[in-house]
Amino acid sequence: MTRALNPTATLVVVNIGQLVTADPRLPAPGVIEDALLAASGDRVVYAGRASEFDIPTGPDTVELDAGGAAVIPGFVDAHTHLIWLGDRAGEYAQRAEGAAYEEIAARGGGIRSTVAATAAGSLDQLVDAARERARRMFRLGTTTVEIKSGYGQSHAAEMRELEAARTLSAESEVPDVITTYLPLHGPVDGDRAEYLDGVLRDGLAAASRLAGLVDCFCEIGAWSVDECERLLLAGRSHGLRAKIHAEQRSRSGGAALAARVGAVSADHLEHAADEDLRALAAAGVTGVILPGASLVLGGPPPPGRRLLEAGAQVAIATDCNPGTCWSESMPLMLSLAVATAGLTPAQALLAATAGGAAALGLTDRGRLLPGLRCHALVLETGNWLDVGYHLGANPVARVIARGRVAPAG
Ligand code: NIG
Ligand code: FE
Repeated sequence: MTRALNPTATLVVVNIGQLVTADPRLPAPGVIEDALLAASGDRVVYAGRASEFDIPTGPDTVELDAGGAAVIPGFVDAHTHLIWLGDRAGEYAQRAEGAAYEEIAARGGGIRSTVAATAAGSLDQLVDAARERARRMFRLGTTTVEIKSGYGQSHAAEMRELEAARTLSAESEVPDVITTYLPLHGPVDGDRAEYLDGVLRDGLAAASRLAGLVDCFCEIGAWSVDECERLLLAGRSHGLRAKIHAEQRSRSGGAALAARVGAVSADHLEHAADEDLRALAAAGVTGVILPGASLVLGGPPPPGRRLLEAGAQVAIATDCNPGTCWSESMPLMLSLAVATAGLTPAQALLAATAGGAAALGLTDRGRLLPGLRCHALVLETGNWLDVGYHLGANPVARVIARGRVAPAG
């Protein structure tokens, strides 16, 4: 395929049986056989047929033999609540006995109980808890992760969550971290209007130094369309791009709001009508499906195929959180998207890579093309289809992040 001008490769992955590039010019998901992948620094410089590779290598070039295995782009997990303390295992058992998510929340459980545990934590405790999950994600092939605040519900505690995410991003063997300020999530203890005023007055300005995106839980019983609209519009003036938890438990107007404010993504969408999905498509908003949370909570299936039929771009994410889906596994989400959301394996793979990048407004990753960030996964197998087909497994043999091969294991 194409190549960058005059680079020296610092990494060459040889003997790739199937290279999944996600190149939109090829039939999805953009497979090239008998291929080679090369990086210079953190960028891809070659992704194509091995026989056509002609980029110089040097004494310091690292060579990795894929042994005929498939190589795919690293996963972009575009929706997680990775930073929390405490656990809600008891709620998991209660739901199995028939208690609804909303009933548990009304009794003081739900988001409120995680806020109580998380807001009391120190920065070090937050980073330690999140590190374990982020490393697990990385070993499962996630090379970019979005991390939201949302379990602080006070200015100081929300900022501590964002700082913890930023601290984590400086570490090795974790994915690249993209941070999102989620101030409108659970219920607040004091006056609601005062809390929102504080977020608009002080929160957004402070968050804009630690995050690039702003999010809200737009739902009956959580935050209204009006409250969310005020947040997202004010966020825009601070340079924060909008994301919305929309139509998760009821059709509440979040998708139409996402289209109106030009959000980068609208997430969940189980209760969205077809006209909502068409509005997202027309406004260029990526629809993020969260098949793990949909499975845990029950209700309508995630609208993967419906989003594509409406003409929207679709992304798959874990929603990793202690309430509705504790999973770090993008391969599992990909399997669930095929089994429950009507996506083909090729559509699901693209949704977990290029789709995730779109849901974060990132144009520098999610595909293996020259010039893009080199985040790639050498699989355990020669067939990329096994990623979704082998349910509950870890299909990843080696993770390549930022152009470097991570230590095995
Ligand atoms: O994406 N819907 C709101 N937020 C999370 C759940 C958070 C929680 O229950 O702690 C979600 O599903
Ligand atoms: Fe969420």
